[in-house]
Amino acid sequence: MAPFDKYSYYRRSVQAPDTDVEFLRDTYKEIRGVLPTTLREDFCGTFSICCEWAKLGPRYRAHGIDLDYEPIQYGMTHYLPQLSTSQKERVQIHQENVLNPGLPRADVIAAMNFSHFIFKERAMMKSYFHNCYATLNPGGILVCDAFGGSRCGEANEEETKHRGFTYYWDQESFDPVSNYATFHIHFKPDGQKKIEKVFTYDWRMWTLPELREMMMETGFRKTHVYWEGTTKSGAGDGVFRPTEKGEECEAWIAYVVGEK
Ligand SMILES: C[S@@+](CC[C@H](N)C(=O)[O-])C[C@H]1O[C@@H](n2cnc3c(N)ncnc32)[C@H](O)[C@@H]1O
Repeated sequence: MAPFDKYSYYRRSVQAPDTDVEFLRDTYKEIRGVLPTTLREDFCGTFSICCEWAKLGPRYRAHGIDLDYEPIQYGMTHYLPQLSTSQKERVQIHQENVLNPGLPRADVIAAMNFSHFIFKERAMMKSYFHNCYATLNPGGILVCDAFGGSRCGEANEEETKHRGFTYYWDQESFDPVSNYATFHIHFKPDGQKKIEKVFTYDWRMWTLPELREMMMETGFRKTHVYWEGTTKSGAGDGVFRPTEKGEECEAWIAYVVGEK
């Protein structure tokens, strides 16, 4: 039996780096009218988005920033070796705090999988946005994802079956006074016991207007919300378009984009 590989299960459950980089590239092109070259993936973990960005072509360079050695090392041994020599040369990973001064400059900075929700106070989130603004190239964009919906207002657990295992997204709590919420990811390999709390997140559920306001307050000249379209059955269709009006739903994912 293969040993349990939490990052492999995580990638198959919650990551889509190939479509993420297309969205980041196309959004920059839509806003600026030209293609970007440099991406900074903040909170990069295993830096799968950096690797996919380098695959877009010889002009694409990526920097990944994460505090934690463990996921960085996983990316170094599992994802980086899959790149060609030229692609590898265009990916640089920095074990650093995203709040540190002097981070690499970029055309696009991406904070994905809600990682910035770790900043629970307005002052902290604003100092992160300020750092992004300071290190974006002129005309650069900051792209942050966000999620919400009525289901996030109470404890709940959803499970999704994948080939060989089941993925569980478990919201343990929600406090309406602080908007703090705790989430866990569990996995159950087929035929084995459920492995609980493989990943845990203590977050504040920021709303889209709050994120937009904080971007504007830190100097961004314009913000946009990209909202997901729906299929006939009402599920998300994976296509995100700019809008000023969303739809009430139980669970949604959106992107907030700030223009420098
Ligand atoms: C939710 S994971 C997301 C990883 C990756 N972005 C993804 O999409 O799968 C959050 C990551 O942020 C990192 N992190 C948390 N606080 C950080 C900080 N202040 N500076 C840099 N990285 C941080 C953690 O080590 C972790 O790898």
